[in-house]
Amino acid sequence: MNMRMSDLIVKKRNGGTLTGEEIGFMVEGYTNGRIPDYQMSAMMMAIYFQGMNEEETLSLTMAMRDSGEVLNLKAIDGIKVDKHSTGGVGDKTSLALAPMAAACGIPVAKMSGRGLGHTGGTIDKLESFSGFSTSIPAQKFIENVNRIGISIMGQTADLAPADKKLYALRDVTATVDNMSLIASSIMSKKLAAGADAIVLDVKTGSGAFMKEEEDSFALAREMVKIGNGAGKKCVAVVSDMDQPLGFAVGNALEVKEAIETLQGRGPADFLELCLTLGTQMLLLGKKAETEEEARKKLLAVIEDGSALRKLAEFVEAQGGDSAAVYDTSLLPKASLTKEIKADRDGFVGHIECEEVGICSLLLGGGRETKESSIDLSVGIMLQKKVGDSVLSGDTLAILYANDGKKLEAAAERLLRAYRITDEEPERRSLIKGVVS
Ligand code: URA
Repeated sequence: MNMRMSDLIVKKRNGGTLTGEEIGFMVEGYTNGRIPDYQMSAMMMAIYFQGMNEEETLSLTMAMRDSGEVLNLKAIDGIKVDKHSTGGVGDKTSLALAPMAAACGIPVAKMSGRGLGHTGGTIDKLESFSGFSTSIPAQKFIENVNRIGISIMGQTADLAPADKKLYALRDVTATVDNMSLIASSIMSKKLAAGADAIVLDVKTGSGAFMKEEEDSFALAREMVKIGNGAGKKCVAVVSDMDQPLGFAVGNALEVKEAIETLQGRGPADFLELCLTLGTQMLLLGKKAETEEEARKKLLAVIEDGSALRKLAEFVEAQGGDSAAVYDTSLLPKASLTKEIKADRDGFVGHIECEEVGICSLLLGGGRETKESSIDLSVGIMLQKKVGDSVLSGDTLAILYANDGKKLEAAAERLLRAYRITDEEPERRSLIKGVVS
C-alpha cells in the first residue's frame, strides 16, 4: 500500500504509534524533498504534543543517521571522543573544552550545530573568526584531526542531512523541546560522525529545553542507551542551566569569554563545567585513569598555554583569522551598548534564563526564520548573577546591539528577567549528576 504523509500526521496527531517503516518513509521523503516543510512542521507539532515511545525514538534516530553517510574515522589513531550539549544560554563550552581535550591528547572529531530556539550554536559562534569554515569535506576533517588533534565540522549535505533540515525547521516552529526529538537529533548526528565515545552535556533549568531535573535525567538515560546500543561508549553529565553559563551571551562575546577561560581568566562556573566534561572525555579516551589526574591535566594545559595555542591552530586550519585568538578586539563588535540597572537593594534571586536567550535573539543574535542571517557581534554581558548582592542603581547587565529599537526592546525584557529578592537565594549545584 502506498504511504501518504497526511495519513501519518493524522495517526500521530490522534496519539498513534508510528512503525519503523512509516518513520523511514517520512525521513527519507523529507530529506529528498518529496515531503514539504509544511507537512513536516505539522508532524513535528503532532510529535511534540503526543510524544514518541522508545522504539519510535530509536527508529527516528537510526533513520536520520542513515539519511546520509556514516563517517568512518578508522584513519585517525586513538579513541576519538565527541561532545554535545542539549543546548543552553551562554553555553560556549565546546569552544574552550575541545582545544583543552585536544591539548591533553584526545583526538577531538566533533560535529556541531547552529543556534536552536533560544540557545546558541557552536558553528555560529566559530564564524566570529573571520574566514572560519565548518563546511569542510570529510577528508579534510580527518586530516585535521590527524595533524593537529582537533576538527569541528557542521552537518554537510552528506552527514545526517535529515537532522540538518529538521533542526532548521524545529528552530522556527516551536518544536524543539521534546525529549524524543532532542534525543534523535543529537544521537543521529553523533552516530553519523563516527567517534568512538560521546560525552553529553544535558542541561536542566529555566534556560534548558528540559526545565525539570527529572526530564533531563530521562533524556540523559535515553541518549546513553541509544549510544551504547550503537556500540559507542557514552556518558551524560546533567548540568544546571537555570541561569546563563558564565557572563557572556551572544556569539562573538562568548568566543571572547572562552578565550579568556583558556588564558586562565574564565568565570568559575564555566571553568568548572569544562573540567567536569573534560574529565569524562579524558577517562573515555584513556588519557587519564582517575578523575583527579584528568582535572590536573586539563588545568595544566590552560596554565602552560597549550590549550590556547591549540585553539589558534584549529581556527587557522579551518580558514579562520587566528590573530583574533590573541587579540580579541579583532572579533566582531557592536556599535551600541546599554546598561540595565537594579531598581532596589537586595539579592539576585532568579534570572529567567530562557528570557536572556530570547533577548540575545531579539538583538539579532539568532534566527527568526530559516533564511535569517545573524549578527555575530550582539549580545549581553551579565554583571550580576544569582546570589549576588545588589544596591539600587547597580548595573545588572550590559546589552550590545547595532539597532537602537531592538536594543530598547531587549533591554526592557532583560530587566524583567531579573528578580531581586530580600533573601539571599539558595545556591543551586552546577553538576546534578552523571549517567553512564
Ligand atoms: N541539540 C541538537 O543537536 N538537537 C536538539 O534537538 C537539541 C539540541
